[in-house]
Amino acid sequence: MNLHKFITNQIKSALEKIPALADADMSNVVVEVPRDRTHGDFATNAAMVLAKALKQNPCKIAEEILPHICALPFARCASIAGPGFININLKDSFILENVFPDSEHRAKRVSGAPPQVIDLDYGSYNVAKSLHIGHLRGGIIGDSFYRIAKFLGHRPVSYNHMGDWGKPMALVIAWIMKKFPNDWDKPDFKIDESEFNDYYPAASAHAQENSEFLEQVLLIKKEFQDGRADYAALYEKMLSISMRQMADIVERLGMLPFDNNLGERNAAKYLDPVEKILREQNLLTLDNGAEIIKLKRDDDKAPMPPFMWKDSRGADTYDSTDLATIYYRKITDKPDRIIYFTDYRQQLHFAQLFRAAELSGIFPADRLEFPYFGGINGADGKPYKTRDGTVAGLLDMIETVDAAARARVKESGKNLTEDTVKMIALAALKFNDLLHDTKSDYIFDADAVTQFEGRTGPYILYTAVRLNSVLKKANGAGQTKKTCCLSVDERLLSLAILDFDRAVGAAFDKRAPDVLANYTYDLCQTINTFYHNCPILRDDVPADVRAHRLGLVAAAVETLSTAIDLMGLKIPEEM
Ligand code: ARG
Repeated sequence: MNLHKFITNQIKSALEKIPALADADMSNVVVEVPRDRTHGDFATNAAMVLAKALKQNPCKIAEEILPHICALPFARCASIAGPGFININLKDSFILENVFPDSEHRAKRVSGAPPQVIDLDYGSYNVAKSLHIGHLRGGIIGDSFYRIAKFLGHRPVSYNHMGDWGKPMALVIAWIMKKFPNDWDKPDFKIDESEFNDYYPAASAHAQENSEFLEQVLLIKKEFQDGRADYAALYEKMLSISMRQMADIVERLGMLPFDNNLGERNAAKYLDPVEKILREQNLLTLDNGAEIIKLKRDDDKAPMPPFMWKDSRGADTYDSTDLATIYYRKITDKPDRIIYFTDYRQQLHFAQLFRAAELSGIFPADRLEFPYFGGINGADGKPYKTRDGTVAGLLDMIETVDAAARARVKESGKNLTEDTVKMIALAALKFNDLLHDTKSDYIFDADAVTQFEGRTGPYILYTAVRLNSVLKKANGAGQTKKTCCLSVDERLLSLAILDFDRAVGAAFDKRAPDVLANYTYDLCQTINTFYHNCPILRDDVPADVRAHRLGLVAAAVETLSTAIDLMGLKIPEEM
């Protein structure tokens, strides 16, 4: 159950029944979960909002409201604080009824909103190009969002929208032709995988200095897109290496496999029907040999360059294939919305794309979303670099964290299996990524993220392992909810467990898994305080108290494990 939503609705409907408030606008009334629960489990600004609307004194309104809130079946008491805030405390019996996993309320997950088909575009790796740090965040955030959407009963469809149609393909083809002029087009020509990832940077550097080579690249791009067979054959060889590398990354990052690995090249098959739509609506304009769609509106404050449908050589563009992709997804999945998880540098691209989709009537812009995310920096505030000073790639990040986690485990003297160390390293990397406000850059420090204490992945896993081991040691001993009252720590733990559905719902609504990551950290803190203050298996603990606490531990494990799974992390057996 989404306790927060339930309490909010109950309070609002109680207020609506008060005759004196019948006409007041309740839309600004909010119910909050206070960070410090010592004053109340929930707090509302209702009296202040209503006093303003009715031009009355907030304390007077609060006094009028109070008995109605106190009369709600779940309320133990309510009190007025400060300028008219109302704090509400829940009855222990109400908390207990809801906190246990088998209770009917907790099973009701979906918020009541109808399930949506949501196409999710993340990862979106490029063929023949090594993956960069932007791809790291996109994969981690997108994968977690996919899991959250599914958990809430939606129907997400994931797309690895591969970059496989543009200039980088032509650069690599041109480079291979230059390196192996006599062999590149032979059927038995094999690309040497160990050097494959060096081709793109080498070709791209060469094209910058050599205009003849660049000309050749642009021609190759056009001919490749027109279907030239020898280029297509070479491309297939490139693709198979890249697909293997992508699958490897997906596995190493513990992501769910993509529902679709379909990128620009697939989209190119749908350019014709899209072009027909654009022509029918007279949206295409010739501009120095290129075909564009003008997007600028009179009221635009920020620059809005035109949408590039075909470049001046008649080649397809990142813009055109992205519009055709929307068309493709529309006719196949019929999605309610499409959400793209790509880094902040593509804000303009998506603003243009969404406008072109809207203008052409292909897809409404208000159902296309780009909740961009920030970059990963080093201590100097610049994009994170490897030891040799080059900007780090995705694999560098994985390896750096792996090494730091290994060092940390060694230093702790723990004897852990290889699989466990890997799980710890991955949790360190991913949890740290998910924890940060998605929109901001963050500073990456491999030593900090692998600590076993603090806001880290290892801390989260450690808490789960600890709870699991309590349950294991209890060896099936009775868990019960038969108790009438809760101690402070038991109560706080119960409330933290009951806050889970709010956190997941908010992570979904805000397109921001960091809400879930922060919730999980707070939950772990509460669990560990409980663990510290409330003995469970000690000999002097009475059987009924033990059974009750074991019941709470089981509920906490269920909640924490679900949260961990939604972030795409795995709990080891021991730590
Ligand atoms: N392949 C692109 C990149 O590496 C990201 C693609 C994002 N998705 C899209 N539909 N444009 O930057």
